[in-house]
Amino acid sequence: DLMTEKRSSIHGQWSSRFIFILAAVGSAVGLGNIWKFPYITGENGGGAFVLVYLVCIALIGVPIMIAEILLGRRGRQSPINTMRSLVQDEQAHPAWSLLGWGGVITGFLILSYYSVIAGWALAYVFRAASGAFNGATAETIAAQFDGFLSAPLSVLAWHSIFMVMTMVVVARGVRGGLEKAVTFLMPALFVLLLVLVGYAMSLGAFSEGLDFLFSPNFEKVFYHCEVTAAGVEQCRFTGEPMLVALGHAFFTLSLGMGAIMVYGSYMPANASIARATFAIVAADTAVALLAGMAIFPIVFSNGLEAAAGPGLIFQTLPIAFGAMPGGQFFGTLFFLLLVFAAWSSAISLIEPAVAWLVENHGMKRVSAAVLMGVLAWILGIGTVLSFNLLSGEEFQLFGKTIFDLLDYLTANILLPLGGLFIALFAGWIMSRSASMDELRMRDGMGYKTWSLLVRYISPLLVAIVFFNAIGII
Ligand code: PFF
Ligand code: NA
Repeated sequence: DLMTEKRSSIHGQWSSRFIFILAAVGSAVGLGNIWKFPYITGENGGGAFVLVYLVCIALIGVPIMIAEILLGRRGRQSPINTMRSLVQDEQAHPAWSLLGWGGVITGFLILSYYSVIAGWALAYVFRAASGAFNGATAETIAAQFDGFLSAPLSVLAWHSIFMVMTMVVVARGVRGGLEKAVTFLMPALFVLLLVLVGYAMSLGAFSEGLDFLFSPNFEKVFYHCEVTAAGVEQCRFTGEPMLVALGHAFFTLSLGMGAIMVYGSYMPANASIARATFAIVAADTAVALLAGMAIFPIVFSNGLEAAAGPGLIFQTLPIAFGAMPGGQFFGTLFFLLLVFAAWSSAISLIEPAVAWLVENHGMKRVSAAVLMGVLAWILGIGTVLSFNLLSGEEFQLFGKTIFDLLDYLTANILLPLGGLFIALFAGWIMSRSASMDELRMRDGMGYKTWSLLVRYISPLLVAIVFFNAIGII
């Protein structure tokens, strides 16, 4: 205990254990839950994909979140310096501090496209408020969205506004404003999702939607079948949906890049890491499942395509807002809360880098936030153009646009790799006495279970899925 009391973060500390949980929930709950989870579930065939995702959350997400918070609170600095000082404490190889570096780069790459999609949501706040969805058909809504995406300058403007919003909060310090905002905005978003699920229940296709989400059909998801020239159906196993589910477990919980680590470094010393983790994971998972339960009934009752891709929520939810009583109000509020959820996540994407620039380069928070924000903004232009000028095949690499490449590289490769090394460090490099002390646990069932998961189960699962999907095993 002496060790943790001596160390405290120069950036300050959350004012209570509850505020830490709220901030971490603010980081976790975001576009990943409401925008990405539904569309990747649609693209990957539904139930079986969702089940694999839930297994990844339980066996990989939970133990690695505990590990990441634990490293952060032990080190009490930006991820780069936290890893450096833990490497010293444990006399480990200096290469482990690359983990901190990887996280800074990953966060910057994610922020570049995250801000663009958040900009879409921002634009939709005003669209909803203008009454544009009232009574609109599915075709009109789809045409509106296509029209919106095809105007790069306006998409760029929304991306810019969102990036400025993010820089402002990070510049002022993550605590103050964020603490207050998440306290009531997260619960409000949750209630609004319940309203949407309530509306979805009134649709004829509600049970079809639930079926799609929750009844697993493994063959449909994991076997790709083709009919050969001779008219014979040939099916082969594909590990790709598993990699997407695994990658999304990291993305949605903000794991593998130091965001949760840096938030953990501001965590009060007396708070239980395991309990906080369960609360964060439960909230994040509930929001994702509710979003799915709201969206798929709308998809099926309007004969829409579940595999529509990144535009899915923008092509479905407006139909509901256009048809339900009070839809103009609920629609505006919904997109507004989605922007807030994205905002509180975006902040955590650059906090590791900003904390590091302040620690090592004596930069002011303002300059550090502006520097990172501007760099991410520039890279974000690639994502803006991925849906219009640069969407054509001639601009793709491996059949992927710039946005697809950034998404694939970060969610499916960098985050799982970061998480793997976090698990290995916490499980194998850190001494048992240090991890037990930091977790405030004795060598009982709880600690033994975590230790088993973080040392063997999660690293093995990540490695298998990962190497399988990239074709090595
Ligand atoms: N967890 C966020 C979401 O689900 O939208 C995205 C995210 C935030 C990923 C922060 C990674 C991160 F470090
Ligand atoms: Na999330």
